[in-house]
Amino acid sequence: MAAVDVAADSAPRHARRVAMVSGGVGGLGTEICRALARQGHRVVAVDLPVEGDRLARFRDQTAGLDVQLESVDVGDFAACGSLVQRIEGACGSVDILVNAAGITRDTRLANMDPAQWDDVLRVNLDGVFNLCRHAVAGMVARGFGRIVNISSVNGQTGQFGQTNYAAAKAGMHGFTMALAREVARKGVTVNSVSPGYCETAMVMAVPDAVRERIVESVPVGRLGRPHEIARAVTFLTAEDAGFITGANLPVNGGLFMSF
Ligand code: CAA
Repeated sequence: MAAVDVAADSAPRHARRVAMVSGGVGGLGTEICRALARQGHRVVAVDLPVEGDRLARFRDQTAGLDVQLESVDVGDFAACGSLVQRIEGACGSVDILVNAAGITRDTRLANMDPAQWDDVLRVNLDGVFNLCRHAVAGMVARGFGRIVNISSVNGQTGQFGQTNYAAAKAGMHGFTMALAREVARKGVTVNSVSPGYCETAMVMAVPDAVRERIVESVPVGRLGRPHEIARAVTFLTAEDAGFITGANLPVNGGLFMSF
């Protein structure tokens, strides 16, 4: 007779968790906050200080949802530590961490100055280390955690003008697999999502002609929508996603297919 997996059957599908989303005011980050809040989670969006129109837009987009805003520079190790402590103090835990903070400084390597390299590595890769380093201990102690690192198709394929960004995004996935192994027996999963080109300010900043050429090469024939990335995050952070770890989930409209 087949064994019945009682644990899986009785696992709550919709436990209310505390989720922290870096880059929470960004194009993908806000949609991820909204999606996690709609799952019933208490969400903390973290980003650099925001004000004016950008803040008003964020408030509007998250109105009626349990999303609070905290400011931090993810490249600042000590500040990330204080932030995690503050959230754990106020909310009891950080159960879900989504690292979505990311910037570009696109230019050919021949023209790239060290600041353009450092800025991208600091935010996109150090930021992942800084938040994971502080958040993971609590997850391990409580026996539950979901970490999702938002990487990029360009970390898988490289992109002209993105040696810095591609290095950071590929590095994120190496980090993801290594940490996944370290915490696999503690109820903590660590995965990456690799979006393709989406309808965000970052992608709209690419020169029109270049972007149009890229979109033409996407099998689905269009840019991705932020909620389509958020869908991958809610999938990987679900209570019953505990057997998926160290994985990369591409969400790129078929731009790069691999297995
Ligand atoms: N492939 C091959 N050659 C290219 C090229 C490409 N994709 N793009 C430009 N070139 C060529 C140019 O035609 C030019 O050739 P000539 O010297 O023979 O005329 C040469 O390279 C130099 O071009 P530029 O002077 O324009 O190069 P630059 O150093 O100023 O950099 C660039 C140009 C800023 C990189 C520009 O090409 C660009 O913005 N490209 C898009 C980069 C991109 O896709 N970024 C993604 C941002 S969104 C994101 O990152 C989100 C995500 O995760 C998907």
